[in-house]
Amino acid sequence: MSMTAIKAERRRPPLEGRNTVTIEVDGRSMQAFAGESVAAALLASGHQVFRRTEKGNAARSLFCGMGVCFECLVRIDGEPNVRACMTSVREGMVIETGAASDD
Ligand code: FES
Repeated sequence: MSMTAIKAERRRPPLEGRNTVTIEVDGRSMQAFAGESVAAALLASGHQVFRRTEKGNAARSLFCGMGVCFECLVRIDGEPNVRACMTSVREGMVIETGAASDD
């Protein structure tokens, strides 16, 4: 686990006693609040890079947070280019970050 991820987990409110779901992010199982966005879950777990651009391999992450900019694209359950800010986590969801996408 990276130092960024460790610091992010320390900032996250305790999950005990809350309604949570288990998701998988880049092959790692983690808990998220039921109903929160994929973007919120990713940031809370220390994932700051959601994807990379095809040209230049530039890092992209959450920008508008409301479905307009398409900077937050991730792969969810095998479906590419899903907006993390507009998608709620659900039990068993598999999320992949860091993939190159057209830009
Ligand atoms: S952050 Fe802009 S569409 Fe998701």
